[in-house]
Formats: sequence, structure tokens, C-alpha cells
Amino acid sequence: MNQESAKTTALAHPNIALVKYWGKRDIERNIPAVGSLSITLDGLTTTTTVRFDPGLEDDRFFFDGREAPEMAGRVTCCLDRVRRRAGVSTYAVVESENDFPTAAGLASSASGFAALVVAADAALGAGLDRSELADLARQASGSAARSLFGGFVELKLTPDGPYPTETGQLLEPSAWPLRVLVAVTDPGPKAVGSTEGMLMTENTSPFYPTWVESSPADLSEARAAVQRRDFEALADVSESSCLKMHAAMLSARPGLVYWNGTTVQGIRRVRELRSGGVPVFFTVDAGPQLKAVCLPEAFERVERELAAIPGVTSMVASGLGDGARVVGDRR
Ligand code: PMV
Repeated sequence: MNQESAKTTALAHPNIALVKYWGKRDIERNIPAVGSLSITLDGLTTTTTVRFDPGLEDDRFFFDGREAPEMAGRVTCCLDRVRRRAGVSTYAVVESENDFPTAAGLASSASGFAALVVAADAALGAGLDRSELADLARQASGSAARSLFGGFVELKLTPDGPYPTETGQLLEPSAWPLRVLVAVTDPGPKAVGSTEGMLMTENTSPFYPTWVESSPADLSEARAAVQRRDFEALADVSESSCLKMHAAMLSARPGLVYWNGTTVQGIRRVRELRSGGVPVFFTVDAGPQLKAVCLPEAFERVERELAAIPGVTSMVASGLGDGARVVGDRR
């Protein structure tokens, strides 16, 4: 890096796991206990600008226009990894914005850290490849590695590889343009964060070992369904992975109940629709929002049906999008 300040803007989209990640193999290095398979969304975007400036005495982080020192620690840890690889020690100002409500329960940490590593790498001219960027993002947030890629994405455990996980694209967004609807059932913050929830589940749920052992079979089933564009098969394995993850959460002590009554109503409605021939399935993460994934022809029907459930406070719609990328560079 030259002595001038180096500034780059990158954007990234959140992703939703269809075969879920829950639990850590190594908490210190943030290595997930299981692989995962996700879709990257296009309707929602995090935009992050990183400016390295030799005049700074510390990193500064701004989120949605407001300085957010409470989040600066994780941002600095992530920047430190990129700086170490680039061989520099210059501090940075990071400004990040989401064009979607965090209440939508769409992991903004995934798009946030994906955009951050891409912008920081480009600003420093470090030239890291996608695999390494994904690995750096994974160390900040397990799901963030997946937002480096577009369309259908798999994160694999690769204990013998150059990185402990390897993330890559299975299918481009245009190869199978599924649609996603998020039915927001509670706009409040979630009760138990994912890291804490994972540790509680690992330490206390009698079902946790089975959850981990059964994940590779779910992953190969889902991977094959994606490759064949077999919606029924993907629906079946995705709902099963989601419910199995929630079964492990529910059986922790104390049990983690992320759903509310409206979530359950949404699950039932989606299942009724699918039995009636509407191509849609549900997934739910560590919060009460219901995510419905459907074929494009079912989109309007699914939107109408979910919006009509009492307790659904708003809806967010999306298609599938590309991976994190640089959108502006100024030196
Ligand atoms: O990446 P984290 O630490 O926010 O964990 C994500 C956990 C789930 O969203 C519940 C599942 C997943 O694979 O995204």
C-alpha cells in the first residue's frame, strides 16, 4: 500500500442455509461442526467501504451512518487477518450499510463480513483468492464464507486441506432461479445469539451427536437435488435439516425455542400448500421468521398466503444473487 489512504467499496448479499450449520468443531478458530448448503439472495444488500489511513490511531466502525464501537472488536479482528496477510498494520475506517431491516432475521453478519474481507483485500491490493477470502470471512462468522459466492453454495469441512473449510459455488443463480419470501413474525431482537445457542446445544442436548453425524448424508442429498434441479427432493431434505436443527436446539437445557405461534402457523401453511401442488418449502433459522423458498411460478400465491397469516408483520422478497464483489475503488 502506498502512503495515500486506500479506499474500496464492496457489496455482499445475505444467504439462507438449506442444509444448516449449527455447532462448532473448534470454538477458538470458529470451525463449524458440520458443512452447510445455502442460497445467496439478491434482493438485500450490505455495502461496505473500507479506507485504510496511515493517520489513524485505531480502527473505526460506522453502521448505518452511526459509529458502532460495540461492533468494532469483531471488525478489527477480521481486518487484522487481512492486514497480516497483506503485511501492513495501517488502521481503517469502515462504513457499512444494509438496505434491509435487521429484523428480517437474515444474517447481516454473513453479508457484512463477506463485504468487509472483499473491500479490505482490494483496498490493500493483497490479491487474496476467493478460497482464502472465504476462509477469513468464516473465521468472523460461519455463514459469512457462503456470501462470498452466488447462487447455490456449499461449505465443506476439509480438515486435511489448506483451510479447515472450503466454500464454493454449486450452481449459478440463473441456472435455477428460485424465489425466497421472508415472513417477519417478530421484528424484535433475537433472544439468544447463534454462538451462545450453539454452545448450549453442544453442551446439553442429547440429540447433538446425532445432528452432527447425520449432516453429511443431508449435504449429499441436497447437493444431488440441486444438481438435478429436483425441487421436491430439495424441499424434503431442507425441511428435514431445519427441523432436525430445531430439535437439537429444543432439546438443549434450557431448551432454545426460537419459534413463536406464527412461525408454526407458517410452517403448517407452507406444508398444506405443497401438498396441494404448490412448489414451496420452508426454513427457519435462529429466530422466529419464516423463510419460504419457491419456484418462480408459485411466488405470488405464496406471498398472498403468507401475508394473510395473522401475526405476519411484514414480508421481504428476493431472488438469487451473486457473491460479494468490489463496486468502487478509489486511491
Ligand atoms: O454464522 P452464524 O454464527 O450467524 O450462524 C448461522 C446459524 C444458522 O443461521 C442458524 C444456520 C446457517 O447455516 O446459517
